[in-house]
Amino acid sequence: MSETSIPKHIAFIMDGNGRWAKGRGLPRAMGHRKGAEVLREVIRAGSRLGVSTMTFYCFSSENWKRPEDEVEGLMNLLRRYLKSDLAEFHSAGIRLKIIGDRAPLPEDIVQLIEQSEEQTADNEKMTVCMAISYGSRQEISSAAQALAIKVRDGVLSPQDITPEKIGEELYTAGIPDPDLLIRTSGETRISNFLLWQLAYSEMVFLDKYWPEFSKEDLWSAVEEYQRRDRRYGVALGTA
Ligand code: IPE
Ligand code: IPE
Ligand code: MG
Repeated sequence: MSETSIPKHIAFIMDGNGRWAKGRGLPRAMGHRKGAEVLREVIRAGSRLGVSTMTFYCFSSENWKRPEDEVEGLMNLLRRYLKSDLAEFHSAGIRLKIIGDRAPLPEDIVQLIEQSEEQTADNEKMTVCMAISYGSRQEISSAAQALAIKVRDGVLSPQDITPEKIGEELYTAGIPDPDLLIRTSGETRISNFLLWQLAYSEMVFLDKYWPEFSKEDLWSAVEEYQRRDRRYGVALGTA
């Protein structure tokens, strides 16, 4: 692996927890629990590689439609995770950022999120961004609403609505776009994740469930990324 072209931002669709558990005759909740342990390991591995930002899809806006007990289990896991790992994040120099719609989240989780973001706000080693109750179409719609309000109030003219202005209204404002997206579980779709931000990201789809993902898998995804030729629409040989 080349040390010089480590992706600055890696985004993850951590998929396959349920199927991993089912394959072992375990309840889905055990898959989520194991998935949370893997998340911890991957954050450590990314930090050691020198990645600046890692974004993790933890819970989508569509995941609210899952059975009540699974949603409740996931909220409990999230609550425990935010409490138990905050100190470690902070001492590792990690800035935590949570993206998504907070309105449907339990009040105490919203407080934990605010507290975690506040406490780690000045950390500079790495940013860990957790997408919770996140949907990209909803994110873009909210950005459109915010811009429409500015136009209505006369502080913005329609012709000034540029890609940059839209970017500034997204949950990810200030965070550079992902260089690399990794999705586990064998599914090769985006599932309403970072639709705007992934415009030119390289994508690696892995035929493995998230609970089986290891730091070695992270390393090989980075090596795969380093073999890619990012052209951004510029014809071969002119870049
Ligand atoms: C990913 O695993 C975690 C969440 C979406 C919360 P899944 O729960 O989607 O597991 P599969 O894809 O059904 O196996
Ligand atoms: C995407 O996985 C969401 C997360 C990993 C949190 P899903 O399991 O919800 O996506 P689909 O249903 O396979 O598209
Ligand atoms: Mg899934």
